[in-house]
Amino acid sequence: MKVSEIEKAFTIFFSLENGLSTDRESGKRHLADVQQMFADQEAAKARLKKENPLIYEFYDLGMPDTPGDLAFGTSITYPGKIGNEYFMTKGHFHSILETAEVYFCFQGQGMMMMENPECEWDIQCLAPGKAVYVPKCFAHRSINTGDTPFCTFFCFRADAGHDYKTIESKGFRKIVVDKNGEPTVVDNPEW
Ligand code: NI
Repeated sequence: MKVSEIEKAFTIFFSLENGLSTDRESGKRHLADVQQMFADQEAAKARLKKENPLIYEFYDLGMPDTPGDLAFGTSITYPGKIGNEYFMTKGHFHSILETAEVYFCFQGQGMMMMENPECEWDIQCLAPGKAVYVPKCFAHRSINTGDTPFCTFFCFRADAGHDYKTIESKGFRKIVVDKNGEPTVVDNPEW
């Protein structure tokens, strides 16, 4: 019997300007934490010699992992590139594969990259006011293609869990790079 179930309503603040909460501490991923995910490893190493930029941050409110609860929070991916590849999140499948997720963009410009184990992939552009439905079984990654923080609010079944390892091993099939100033989807050379 779980004793951690939340039985009371609560509120939490997320800034519409920068996505950050003043109520909770965010999880932060700097380049040194996620350098392996970028296609241009030489560029990643060169950048790390100079600095260790914050790539993204997000909130994990520690909701009870039951199918009746919801996990939610914001995700903020900062603007920048490693080589010509935009800053992005690691991306993940849900441990319970057949669970979907919704992301609502409220600041910045970006994309949601998605792919499933059956070789299907999709990418959707996001801008303030736009929500994306990530279907069950699709891994998902946020990519900032703009020059300001890319902020989304997400919500998914609280017991879904995160499987980062599958993506860590070879990445997504497609990556998004800057080609002459335009975000362009290309094959991942490492896939
Ligand atoms: Ni997710």
